[in-house]
Amino acid sequence: MHDKPILKCSNVKKSFSIRGKSIEVLKSIDLELYPGELVVIKGRSGEGKSVLQWILSGIDTPASGEILFDGIPYNRLSRKELSNLRRKRIGLIFQNFNLIQSWTAIENIESALLNSNLSREEKTKKAVLMLEKMELGEKLDYLPIELSIGQQQRVAVARALINEPSLIIADEPTGSVDDETADDLMNILLPYVNDKKSAVLATTHGNTRLESLADRLFYLRDGRLTCAASLKTHQHNS
Ligand SMILES: Nc1ncnc2c1ncn2[C@@H]1O[C@H](COP(=O)(O)OP(=O)(O)OP(=O)(O)O)[C@@H](O)[C@H]1O
Ligand SMILES: [Mg+2]
Repeated sequence: MHDKPILKCSNVKKSFSIRGKSIEVLKSIDLELYPGELVVIKGRSGEGKSVLQWILSGIDTPASGEILFDGIPYNRLSRKELSNLRRKRIGLIFQNFNLIQSWTAIENIESALLNSNLSREEKTKKAVLMLEKMELGEKLDYLPIELSIGQQQRVAVARALINEPSLIIADEPTGSVDDETADDLMNILLPYVNDKKSAVLATTHGNTRLESLADRLFYLRDGRLTCAASLKTHQHNS
């Protein structure tokens, strides 16, 4: 097991003000994610799972607290540096997939290669290979609306994985698909954990399969994380 976390957050807080009323969604979150582990956060609807994942991926900023990615504090990076880091090193699978609706499957994947040094042909080849791996080789030119929910999810997963990210964040990957499709998805994600190249952080309302696969399982409740279980024997020295 690696000694150094790929992501470490300390004392992260976040509030929203809605109609003059302030809601403290995240009260004090501490979390470390190590390459080679699947960490699952379980929480009821509205507890702040998506908000936490947006903050950890640098899309949203916390009210206070610190987030270090591979030792680099987010708040020392410019917007551009942060967006480059996210593009290259974080694969984010959104709860609603966030595919560009007017782009085909392959165009959605190629968009994630915008900053790479590959030629146009190489980008296309890489995107085709990834979509074939997702068993979508026949649907390269389909628009998201022409794909099933499970297929749209696989396009979102392909886009998240194309740059071989060190951190994969999957918001409710098992939420909107049947058990078998969810299993297929986990079979795609788990090799990234098992080869120790990436950490995967996934959220769930309570998918027991996903929970049973977790190396560590946390509950998010009332703005705080509690460790429900360290189900596998990984020990960290920090
Ligand atoms: N941009 C925003 N402005 C105001 N409030 C927000 C905003 N985004 C999220 N919230 C609030 O933060 C809380 C947590 O939302 P979040 O989407 O993180 O929940 P969740 O745990 O992901 O729920 P679900 O399981 O339904 O996806 C909710 O009460 C929501 O209303
Ligand atoms: Mg959510």
